[in-house]
Amino acid sequence: MVTARALIVTVVGAALAPACLAQDHPGAAIYLDRCAGCHGVNLEGQPDWMRRMPNGRMPAPPHDASGHTWHHSDRQLLRIIKEGLAVIAPGYETDMPAFGDTLSDGEILAVLEYIKSTWPDRERELQAKRTAADTE
Ligand code: HEC
Repeated sequence: MVTARALIVTVVGAALAPACLAQDHPGAAIYLDRCAGCHGVNLEGQPDWMRRMPNGRMPAPPHDASGHTWHHSDRQLLRIIKEGLAVIAPGYETDMPAFGDTLSDGEILAVLEYIKSTWPDRERELQAKRTAADTE
């Protein structure tokens, strides 16, 4: 009986832990304030995010593991968020704003840590490898 109860407590605890962790994350508040309007409160992105909109621009992609944020190294992500996508593709028209004037590097990194905290181990490890290999 004691064992079964301990087991239930452990299982319930493990199920709740990630949700609590994510909400307590310092970057979560910044994410909700500055990013969630387009990328979604649950990092789910805009509907049909892979289809170009009638104005020729792309919708906001998800930041959870179903998107491609984890394909980029920390250096690339920091650059995209600070300077906008045009730094990578000059002249590119996009709804993604550049946040370099309104968020500090520390705040952007906190948002990135929050986003990463929602990824499964596999995506976290792959992204960490990209970051380690990106020595530019
Ligand atoms: C006004 C809407 C809007 C807001 C607000 C916004 N984004 Fe975006 N974001 C976009 C769109 C749209 C794209 C896709 C750009 C494209 O491909 O043209 C994008 C793309 C990105 C990408 C590139 C993803 C990839 O996999 O290539 C990152 C990273 C990103 N956003 C991070 C953020 C962060 C962090 C915030 C908050 C600090 C934020 N965005 C706020 C609209 C927004």
